[in-house]
Amino acid sequence: MQQNNRKMINGKSIILGTCYYPEQWDKKLWAEDIDRMLAAGIQVVRVAEFAWNKFEPREGEYDFTFFDEFLKLAEEKGMKVIFCTPTATPPAWLSTKYPEILNADQDGNLFRHGNRRHYNYNSPIYREFVAKLTEQMGTHYGAHPAIIGWQLDNELNCETNEFYSESDTKAFRKFLQDKYENLDALNAAWGTDFWNQTYTDWEEVDVPRRTNNNTTNPHRVLDYIRFISDSTCSFAKLQADILKKYIKPDDFITTNGIFDRIDYQRMQRESLDFITFDSYPDFAYGLDDYDEKDPFKDRWWSMKLTEVRSTSPVFGIMEQQSGADGWTNRLEAPTPKPGQLTLWTMQSIAHGSDYIGYFRWRTSIMGTEIYWHGILDYSGRDNRRLREVKAVSEKIKKLQPVAGAEYAAKIGILKDYDNNWDTNYDNWHRRVERQSQDSLFLALQQLHAPYNYVYLTEETKPEDLKKYEVLFYPHATILTKEKMALLETYVADGGKLVMGCRTGYKDRTGKCVMDYLPGLASKVTGTDIPEYSFVSPEDKHVYVDWDGEKVEAAIFNDILAPVCESAEVLGTYTNSYYAGEPALIRNSFGKGEAYYFGGAFAVDTAKLFARKLKVAEPFKDVIELPECCELAVREKDGRQFLFVLNYQPREEQIVLKKQAFDMLAEESREGNVTLAPYETKVYEL
Ligand code: GLA
Repeated sequence: MQQNNRKMINGKSIILGTCYYPEQWDKKLWAEDIDRMLAAGIQVVRVAEFAWNKFEPREGEYDFTFFDEFLKLAEEKGMKVIFCTPTATPPAWLSTKYPEILNADQDGNLFRHGNRRHYNYNSPIYREFVAKLTEQMGTHYGAHPAIIGWQLDNELNCETNEFYSESDTKAFRKFLQDKYENLDALNAAWGTDFWNQTYTDWEEVDVPRRTNNNTTNPHRVLDYIRFISDSTCSFAKLQADILKKYIKPDDFITTNGIFDRIDYQRMQRESLDFITFDSYPDFAYGLDDYDEKDPFKDRWWSMKLTEVRSTSPVFGIMEQQSGADGWTNRLEAPTPKPGQLTLWTMQSIAHGSDYIGYFRWRTSIMGTEIYWHGILDYSGRDNRRLREVKAVSEKIKKLQPVAGAEYAAKIGILKDYDNNWDTNYDNWHRRVERQSQDSLFLALQQLHAPYNYVYLTEETKPEDLKKYEVLFYPHATILTKEKMALLETYVADGGKLVMGCRTGYKDRTGKCVMDYLPGLASKVTGTDIPEYSFVSPEDKHVYVDWDGEKVEAAIFNDILAPVCESAEVLGTYTNSYYAGEPALIRNSFGKGEAYYFGGAFAVDTAKLFARKLKVAEPFKDVIELPECCELAVREKDGRQFLFVLNYQPREEQIVLKKQAFDMLAEESREGNVTLAPYETKVYEL
């Protein structure tokens, strides 16, 4: 994880911004819009991410007059600007003259002009146009005083994260040649002796095209996903390397995520100062898939914010929802209720964001997103949401000491991209992973036990893990010696590691290991797995007795056996044909301990682990709050800031067991406190 000490998000302030599209409005509105934004406490606008034609209306003809005018006005008025490379929407003249820049469907049919993100990352022609334009924009705008930072493209891999153009095929071959050097190595890695898939010439190697049942070699798919990440990272780097030559030393480079099939740890290392995120918690209220019984709804968004934080501990929100969601042909969600816009802003800040940019200032009156509402509706009149933004800006003034503070967590959930991407295609892996990730999130949120996701990469050092008392690595299906060495050090130094079923049965190619399971994890967990099975539909649920407490071993069961004296059976299965067999083993290893649990985690199971391992409710001496409220804590220089978020449309009660300073009310409080519907309290301890 890279520490963030940069620029706008520099630990000095929390600020508000909004997304603005000067090209979509009459110029006469610009000055008034900027004045109104400033009056509402909005200090930053993000512009230009879809405006290629305004910079290069025809091939090779660059024209900067349009944005020069806008930036001049912004500068005069004291509005700061995040400027974007407009590469998410290549112009019609470009895709018509050079159709090879277009992405294609799996059968190779080119996507045509009319949507966005219709390009591919690997077309040499597209990369050349992008490089030339970025060079021009960097030269022309790099020193502009109104600009404080740059966004690369827009939402890389959103909407489309599969690439099947001719350029992708060629680049995929090159990627594989660099990786394997020869076809024998590739054939061995992909196990092509199975079903006679052997390649005899590099020309035969292609991106995964449509097949009968659309089933193909899983090891090839895993490499293809790695290739997509590689292409995306290199596309971002192409732009970042050019911009770095021209931008002011204090200006930042970011991109807005988070999407699948991108190694964001690498992207940040190579190209970004920090990541920004687009936060739309109202997806939980989508009219299509609204689930009345879901206890979390918009609070699920905290899981995504946790993911964002795994790339940059302090980050920004480039697009924070401020109105109803909707495209003309898909996605429908209601307008945030009074208080929800504030709640979702506070949710972002609570999780580590120091910049909140509302999407968008005015609602578009044309195009696909006429229902994707901004702060203002079509008329532009003052409205309830604008008043709420203004009120938020007043609150933010009181929260400035929080800037730069990092989210406090004693628990880490380990992740890595190989395993993330393996779940794209492997159903068995996906089922256990989803179950455990959702359960851990729900359980730890309800226990008010804050956690981080921690990515294991080649750069991860033992110190990065040491700060966590407990690490869950729910289903490390693919394991490597390097990762295991890191984990063994963590445990030997006193850490507690919890691993779940299906650990260690694959190598990096995604092929299974001919070994006693859990393979490389056997040593640290002191465990052997003589037998395993999906939970049978007849059994429906299989439970484990752990010291008299009954918890579920969901979805899949590894039937365990201890393999050394330091390994102790803590729990046994209570039902199915393996009732009485070991389901949970704890192994003492150096100064710490490793747990192997035979199932995927259910909510109760995850809660019991947190309690037994003594990481549940770390703030219980300070605050008592109901499960339906979230607790998040940021800390800096010995100062702790507690965010208590009420997601409910009703009042909720909390108890402050110690005196704490209510930063928004600017007074010290202790004892019973009532939270209004959707209210957030922020306390300094
Ligand atoms: C994304 C994009 C925006 C806009 C919104 C709403 O987050 O970055 O351009 O399309 O979604 O759809």
